[in-house]
Amino acid sequence: MERTTSGTHKVAVFCSGLSRGSNLCAIYKYFADNKLPIEIALVIFTCKDAPAIQLAEERNLNYQIIQARDMQSFEKRAMELCRQHSIELIALSGFLKQLSPNFIESMQIPILNIHPALLPKYGGKGMYGMAVHNSVFAAGEKESGVTIHLVNSQYDNGKIVAQEKVDISACKSPEEIAQKVLDIEHKLYARTIKEYLLNH
Ligand code: GAR
Repeated sequence: MERTTSGTHKVAVFCSGLSRGSNLCAIYKYFADNKLPIEIALVIFTCKDAPAIQLAEERNLNYQIIQARDMQSFEKRAMELCRQHSIELIALSGFLKQLSPNFIESMQIPILNIHPALLPKYGGKGMYGMAVHNSVFAAGEKESGVTIHLVNSQYDNGKIVAQEKVDISACKSPEEIAQKVLDIEHKLYARTIKEYLLNH
C-alpha cells in the first residue's frame, strides 16, 4: 500500500466498552519498538467508560468516542473520521458490533478483526472473552489459538489472513487457556497488520 504524504501508513483501531485495550497497546508498542512507518492515527471507542481510554490517553493517541447504539450514525461518523485521517486499515479490537455491508464496501480499505480461538469452530454471536475459552475447555480441545480475519457481513467470519495454534493440553482451566492465547494475540495482530500494510 502507498504511504501517505507524511510518510507513514495510518491505522485506525475500533474498540468497544468491553475492550481491555491490551491489543491496542501491544500494536502501539510493536510499531514504536520496531520504528515502523506505521502509526495508530485514530482510535474509536464506543463508550466513554471504556477502560482502554486511559491507556490511549497515556500514549497520546488521537481517540474519539462515538456511541454505537445507532449503528447508522456510528458508521457515518466513523467513515468521516477515517477519511479525514487518511486511514488505510481498520483493526477491530474487542469491537462487538457488526459493521454493515455498506460500511465494509464503502470504506474500500481492509478491516481486520482478531478472535481468541481457531475459527470457524469457536466463533459466532455470544463468543466473546471467557465464553470462547470456556467452550474450548469444556470440549477438551488439545489446541486453541488466534485467528485474524477480514471482516465481512457475518459475525466472526470473513477470509482468514493469519492463524496461530497453541498447545493447551496442559491447561487446567479456561483462564490458563485465555492467558496462553492472549500472549499470541499480542504478537500476531501487530505483525499481521504490518504485513498487510507493507505487502499489499
Ligand atoms: C481479544 O481477546 C479478541 O480476540 C476478542 O476481543 C479481545 C479484544 O482485545 N475478540 C473477539 O472475541 C471477537 N469475536 P482487547 O480486550 O485487548 O481489546
